[in-house]
Amino acid sequence: MATTLAPVLTDTLDAARSWRLDTYRAHGGYEGLRRALTQSPATLVETVKASGLRGRGGAGFPTGLKWSFLPRPDGGPRYLVVNADESEPGTCKDIPIMLGNPHALIEGVVITSYAIGSHHAFIYLRGEVVHVYRRLLAAVDEARAAGLVGEDVLGSGFDLEITVHAGAGAYICGEETALLDSLEGRRGQPRLKPPFPAVAGLYARPTVVNNVESIASVPSIVRGGADWFTSMGTPRSAGFGLFSLSGHVTRPGQYEAPLGITLRELLDMAGGVREGHELKFWTPGGSSTPILTAEHLDVPLDYEAVAGAGSMLATRALQIFDETTSVVRCVSRWIDFYAHESCGKCTPCREGTYWLKQVMHRLEAGKGAPGDVELLLDVSSSIFGRSFCALGDAAATPVQSGIKHFRDEFEAGMHTPAWELFPYQASSVFGVGAR
Ligand SMILES: Cc1cc2nc3c(=O)[nH]c(=O)nc-3n(C[C@H](O)[C@H](O)[C@H](O)COP(=O)(O)O)c2cc1C
Ligand code: SF4
Repeated sequence: MATTLAPVLTDTLDAARSWRLDTYRAHGGYEGLRRALTQSPATLVETVKASGLRGRGGAGFPTGLKWSFLPRPDGGPRYLVVNADESEPGTCKDIPIMLGNPHALIEGVVITSYAIGSHHAFIYLRGEVVHVYRRLLAAVDEARAAGLVGEDVLGSGFDLEITVHAGAGAYICGEETALLDSLEGRRGQPRLKPPFPAVAGLYARPTVVNNVESIASVPSIVRGGADWFTSMGTPRSAGFGLFSLSGHVTRPGQYEAPLGITLRELLDMAGGVREGHELKFWTPGGSSTPILTAEHLDVPLDYEAVAGAGSMLATRALQIFDETTSVVRCVSRWIDFYAHESCGKCTPCREGTYWLKQVMHRLEAGKGAPGDVELLLDVSSSIFGRSFCALGDAAATPVQSGIKHFRDEFEAGMHTPAWELFPYQASSVFGVGAR
């Protein structure tokens, strides 16, 4: 059985009052900041580049490289914006970090702001998680009272304000440019790129947008060094990450491990698929990533190998579904979500998700028409790669990968309801019938 865990961000989560500043400091917290303030911003950018840290928000873009895209300082403001929207179905890693270890994020925000020359950072949080909002506000207050945020951070002469902003709860506001529009007080809809946020982002000023986990990983890199970070993971996917196991698994939860670990190893640690059942399909990184099956249990969970298997590592949201689950029902719920969350700005996604939803609903009810599977493939191929932002691709993906691996279940939707083939009670993990 594999025991390869690499607890860094989760290391203190079971400490008493893990979210408090004194607990964080007792475990070496803010040592990275002290060290960072003795270095030049350019050195810090080089360290993060050398660590190979890739954005943990989904696309895996190299973090240090992104920082280096900012134009030279011109005397005007530049911003760091932390993307804490986390609304992808299955994705649930940033909220535990912010709840249990908020100072790792705040320390990362101060170091990153210093490295990119920003004096005002924003944390854009999805508004539904009021408890996390309160925790972040309290943690920023604690840090300010201790001289870690505000004017003259730790006597270095560096000033930084942090604003925690609660959004109104829209999946599209996780897309970085929609997030910026929302933060500016407008309706959250993606912007045309270029210009990219590094050039013209928040208030049309140079802006770095990074995910919570990316920024929270920075203090450990400054403390441990780039070599320590690259000693974990695989050559092109360095370091550690949170793997969130949910669904039909014995011990669901957060498993922080080096990139490149396999689902088989993670399931070993998590007690396996729920007793008496077997793996049918899973997502490597939330509902936007093409589903995989039991034949992919040994695929190393790094960016390259998962792409090689036809999917994406993305947010490492490993949703596990056993043989009691209807693929049609599952895809249908995901499409409901994407149709609801489509911002309506572009036609392929706005109209396409509406049509996918109609077809998925009738297949789920066993009332599909001949040709519906081809219709699904046709509509999804009109969305994929033809939409204004990646939400469109995300909506097409479950349909395409579901049909690729389980076409017979979609065909069955022409005569038999999914709830007859796969009764709800059998797949439920809560309440009556849950096993
Ligand atoms: C529809 C949509 C939703 C997204 N939601 C999030 C999110 O909740 N959190 C996040 O960090 N990135 C999200 N992203 C990716 C961001 O646009 C962006 O790539 C990311 O914040 C960059 O941070 P990183 O480089 O640290 O990964 C989303 C993208 C799309 C298209
Ligand atoms: S792909 Fe969807 S979410 Fe993105 S801009 Fe178009 S309509 Fe809006």
